[in-house]
Amino acid sequence: AFANHYQFIVKETSIERLCKSKKILTVNGKFPGPTIYANKGSTLIVHVYNKSKYNITIHWHGVKQPRNPWSDGPEYITQCPIQPGSQFKQTIILSDEEGTIWWHAHNKWARATVHGAIIVYPNPGHSYPFPKPHAEIPIILGEWWKDSVVEVLKEFVGSGGQPQTSDAFLINGQPGDYYPCSKHGTFKLEIKSGKTYLLRILNAAMHEILFFAIRNHKLTIVGTDGSYTKPLTRDFIAISPGQTFDCLLKANQNPNNFYYMAARAYTNGTNVQFNNSTTTAIIKYQENNYNFNNSPISLPYLPSYYDTPSTINFSVSLRSLASKIHPISVPTKVKTRLVSTVSINLLPCPKNNTRSCQGPNGTRLSASMNNISFLTPPRYNILEAYYYNRVKGVFGADFPDFPPYVFNYTDDVLPLELELPKFGTQVKVLKYNTTVELVLQGTNLVTGLDHPMHLHGYNFYVVGWGLGNFDEKYDPKNYNLVDPPRRNNVVVPKNGWVAIRFRADNPGVWTMHCHIERHLTWGMQTVFIVKNGHKPEEHILPPPHYMPPC
Ligand code: C2O
Ligand code: CU
Repeated sequence: AFANHYQFIVKETSIERLCKSKKILTVNGKFPGPTIYANKGSTLIVHVYNKSKYNITIHWHGVKQPRNPWSDGPEYITQCPIQPGSQFKQTIILSDEEGTIWWHAHNKWARATVHGAIIVYPNPGHSYPFPKPHAEIPIILGEWWKDSVVEVLKEFVGSGGQPQTSDAFLINGQPGDYYPCSKHGTFKLEIKSGKTYLLRILNAAMHEILFFAIRNHKLTIVGTDGSYTKPLTRDFIAISPGQTFDCLLKANQNPNNFYYMAARAYTNGTNVQFNNSTTTAIIKYQENNYNFNNSPISLPYLPSYYDTPSTINFSVSLRSLASKIHPISVPTKVKTRLVSTVSINLLPCPKNNTRSCQGPNGTRLSASMNNISFLTPPRYNILEAYYYNRVKGVFGADFPDFPPYVFNYTDDVLPLELELPKFGTQVKVLKYNTTVELVLQGTNLVTGLDHPMHLHGYNFYVVGWGLGNFDEKYDPKNYNLVDPPRRNNVVVPKNGWVAIRFRADNPGVWTMHCHIERHLTWGMQTVFIVKNGHKPEEHILPPPHYMPPC
């Protein structure tokens, strides 16, 4: 059994990377933050104390929190922030998640340094659907700026263009051997010949889809986003911000060598280029001692930038385990079909503008779902507004239906009506227990990039995807309803679509957004309000005695 009480002390801590030390927000002084261990279906209490000078909220990414949106965490969606000097006792209700999920700050860009893994073990008496590994190792991919992230965000919002790119990617908090200044800290994993290890990999980077691989070794994926998959063996994985993978690693290579693991950005937008996008760590066999210092870096194979076929090919190969013990429950009929565009938009530069317009051709960059660029309410939150019926001026329930556009992906322009998003706080209300199909249609005609879309409060099944336009008549015939992967975060391919399904059986207020932080800041977000059912056990739980005040 594991502890089910945790104390999270949010504070500023001095950390040195790349020969420069800076103060960052941490939990308990650690970067990455502490790992939470739990059994499936258990309930955890995390006492969050804010001892920093910044506001903070914490989200439990991949935890469904049945009927308990109160502890979900997104700022101004389900709570107001925990102010400096205050605290908030959060209740984390695990249900059917099993595998690797994570936690992170969910206000401004605090999650750049405030994040950690959550490892959910099978219930006592149950075992993994694969042989028990010799050891388990969290692999947390991240990003590091030499400057303060608060400043990077400020500059970004003011510029109207792309954010300053990070100075390094990280494996378990370390840039790796390409950075002489930080080389002494490179993460090193000792393994033993003949044994199998379970890597619990998560991408906590702010903006980049990453490729990850280990030289000479294959990875066998057995789970993603807290659900098991059929074993899938690959030379590399492609992992989007917010996603997790459980991978088996066999120590079956010559133990007299050591091996680099590496992660590299898939793309960082068309307007930004940077070379410092490869982070490394080392695998060494226990039997040997090496002198690492003078040896050249030999990378594993990683696809190159913009290798979209490689990312797609990887992600469409995933299948749910769909076994007796881990059955799937994908809705075979749907009552509510929704289509939503996910777009990057270019706003004309306003006259007498006090901020600059560094987007393409002097525009300001923005983003939207169904042409609404989401604004979070500034002083109240949607959950309390909904629960206490104080909706007015906080949000509207007019998330629009899909405008029936067929995009012409060759001429690189959006239909005029979709060029200028409306700004607003519009939610989509769903009936309790309705079966939902949501088709996310990418319209990235301007700045091509995939969008990892993440839904709170649910796991969903990814039943279909395609390039180009979703075709309502034809495409659903090809859905996989047998063993679609169950996830909380799915990549909408550049100039393509994905279809997801879920049953709206978790009443509450749940946001959906792109997990690329700059897109979220630009407004690629919406909110689902799932109403209560008839029975008391289908209602949102009563609020805790204390919610952070607004
Ligand atoms: Cu990983 Cu809304 O978050
Ligand atoms: Cu995005």
